Parts: sequence; structure tokens; C-alpha cells
Amino acid sequence: MSNPRTAQLVSGERLPSPADRSCRDLEYVSRGVRSFIRIGAGLGGEVADFVANGGFYRACVITDDHVARLHGAELRACLADAGGPEQYWYSIAPGEDSKTLPRVYECLEEILPFMTRDSLIITLGGGVVGNFGGTVSALLFRGCPFIHLPTTFMAQADSAIGAKQAVNATRAKNAYGAFHAPLGVFDDIRFLDTLPVGEWRNGLAESIKVAVASQPLFAAQLSHLLCRCPRFTDDEIYFLIAETVRPKVNGLTADLEERSALMFLELGHAIGHAIERATQGKVSHGAAISLGMLIEATLGIRLGITCAAVHDLLSELFSTLGLPRRLPRGLGAEQILASLTCSSRRVASGPVFVFATTVGNTVTHSGIATALIREVLTEFVAGV
Ligand SMILES: NC(=O)c1ccc[n+]([C@@H]2O[C@H](COP(=O)([O-])OP(=O)(O)OC[C@H]3O[C@@H](n4cnc5c(N)ncnc54)[C@H](O)[C@@H]3O)[C@@H](O)[C@H]2O)c1
Repeated sequence: MSNPRTAQLVSGERLPSPADRSCRDLEYVSRGVRSFIRIGAGLGGEVADFVANGGFYRACVITDDHVARLHGAELRACLADAGGPEQYWYSIAPGEDSKTLPRVYECLEEILPFMTRDSLIITLGGGVVGNFGGTVSALLFRGCPFIHLPTTFMAQADSAIGAKQAVNATRAKNAYGAFHAPLGVFDDIRFLDTLPVGEWRNGLAESIKVAVASQPLFAAQLSHLLCRCPRFTDDEIYFLIAETVRPKVNGLTADLEERSALMFLELGHAIGHAIERATQGKVSHGAAISLGMLIEATLGIRLGITCAAVHDLLSELFSTLGLPRRLPRGLGAEQILASLTCSSRRVASGPVFVFATTVGNTVTHSGIATALIREVLTEFVAGV
């Protein structure tokens, strides 16, 4: 994380192209407080300065065992070298199984004696660590300041951005949580140097989602870029992150809870989350929402809402990236339907679906007949 080469993105400015090295900072306002996103390569010194000069009494780093082994020592040294506050490190087992209220409670009980109201929580890890640490931060003292150091593409381009902090119920994804925004997010793309190709694919599923739901130009650019995965240049990584987060950041100030203008970010998530829960996280978030997008596009076509071009584009992009287009063996329609009925996105008339009408446009619907959902799900069962 040494040798900083910071890229800064300003919300609303012209799009950076892969050849454009002058990226800038992004920011949004959460309940009157500014929250920044800094995208750069080698941000360890900046993180350490932020923590050392922020007036924090102590700092608790929440990470997972895998990320701690890969990147923990360097962050620990950076914070100490900058003369930062006393550190406490808390590590969870990697993976979705850790994203539960009992694990959050264990963490809170352990760090409580160390923490004070003027201390800082730092999350270092992927989306699981970010959601877990964000929930801990929301609950501790009814809201403790925190920053994210996301280490997966998924987390840098999506999950670390915004105020939604949640952990899973046994039967529903992200069912327990709160809205609590980080002070800032340091997207250090050097963390991605150690990311396996499967995790790149997972994260890029969110880029495809944003492109298909709201950015037709980005969708066209992805068609050319995705075949290079994971051998992207730094400029391409800046571009992919910036384009994926930009629509979200532009909407967060007005729609912090992502329930109106930012609802398009839920494309593929009704079915996707049901797949994740039905498999207890064995299907990764990225693979699950990819399948969710394809299945919901098929459902949308049957309902006369979605145009065939949406399905064809999704299919092409997932195929280029090597993301699944059939449900995994052993997973049937009934398991997904059972999970869907517990969706944390349901209203009185049933689960809420976001359908792409055309590439770049979405609508929200609920009250879809279970028989039709079952029929479409069955078409995606492996071996059918
Ligand atoms: N709005 C939101 O809050 C939001 C949005 C999208 C996703 N999510 C959540 O994010 C989670 C998925 O996040 P994820 O895909 O980052 O998964 P993850 O956090 O489980 O990380 C995947 C794996 O990569 C490892 N890893 C992390 N950084 C690494 C690095 N730099 N090098 C090598 N390995 C590394 C982790 O240890 C883990 O084994 C899901 O729980 C999903 O619900 C939340």
C-alpha cells in the first residue's frame, strides 16, 4: 500500500475513460454529514494519516482471517508508523456464515471494553466484513464512527458504498440491520492484486447490473472489457469501479435508504438473494445475483415488461465473464420459492421485483403469481 498514486473522482464530472488517468474523489451526504470515496493505488499512507489526525482515541480493525493474513501486517505497520491511536484487531472466519447477529453480538461484547465514543472502527475486507463491521458500528453506542477499507472488487464497487448495514437471518439475506454511513471509503486497488479470478467475476456481476439497469453506454463498454478479466490495467480498474459506483453515489444524498431513485440497484436481487439463502451462501453473492438477473429477465419477458434485448445482453456478458446461466445441481424451484417468501424486500402483495424494461430502464413490481415464478425457475434447474 506504499507509493500512493491517488485517483480522485468528483461526482457528476465527465466519465473517466480507460485511458484517462485523472480520476477524482466521490462523495455523498448522509443525514447532513459528508461521506467520501477515494479511489487510488497504494493508499496506506493516506489511511494512516486520516486515522492518526482524526482525533480518535483508539481504533478497532475488523477483518477476516484470510484478509488479515494477506494485508493485515501492512495496515498495522502503516497505522503505527503514522503515530496512530492504539489498535485492537478483531477477525471473523471468512464467508457468509459469519454475517449473523450472534457473531455481531460476540464481536460487540469483545470490543466494548476497548472502545470509547471517540474511537474509530476500520473494516478491512470484502463485502462480508464490510456488512458485519458496518452493523457492529451501527449498534455500538447507537452509532460509532467507521471507515471501510474494502479489499474485493465487489466491496470497492458496491457494498462499501452507502449506508445500508445488515447481517443475515437464517431464512433471509440482510434482514437485520440499520442505516449508518461510513465517514469514508478508501478503495485501494492494490488490495485487488491478490484477488482470485472467481472473486473478480463475482464483483463484476454488480458492474453488469448497474450497466444493464441504468447505463447503456457502460454496458457497451463492458462487452469489450470483460474478456480481459482479471488482467485489467490500473486505469481499467479505476474505470470499472468509478462507472459502477457513480450512479449509486449520485443518488445517495437524495435516497440514502435506496428505496426510490436507487431501487434499480436491486435488479436481480429478489431471486438472487433467495438463491443465496436457499444454498446457505454456497452460491456466492455475485453468481446468485447473475442468475437472479437472468431469471428475472425471463420472468419480465413472460409478463410483457422486459424486452428480449435485456436477456440477450445479460446472457452475452455472463458468458464472456464465465458466470453461471443455470442453477447449480441440487437446487430446485421449491427451495428458491420458500426462500423468496421470507425476502427482506417483501410487501403485503409479495416480494418486490425490479425489472429492466429496456437496457438502461427499470420498473418495480410486486404481486407476481407464484405459479409463473415457479414455471420460470424450473426452466433454469440444472439438467432440465
Ligand atoms: N449494499 C450492500 O450492503 C451490499 C452490496 C453488495 C454485496 N453485499 C454483500 O457483500 C457480500 C459479498 O461480498 P464479497 O463478494 O466481497 O465476499 P466476501 O467478503 O465473502 O469475500 C470473498 C472472499 O475473498 C476473500 N478476500 C477478500 N479480499 C481479498 C483479497 N484482496 N485478496 C484475496 N482474497 C480476498 C475473503 O476472505 C473471502 O474469502 C455478501 O454478503 C453481500 O450480501 C452487500
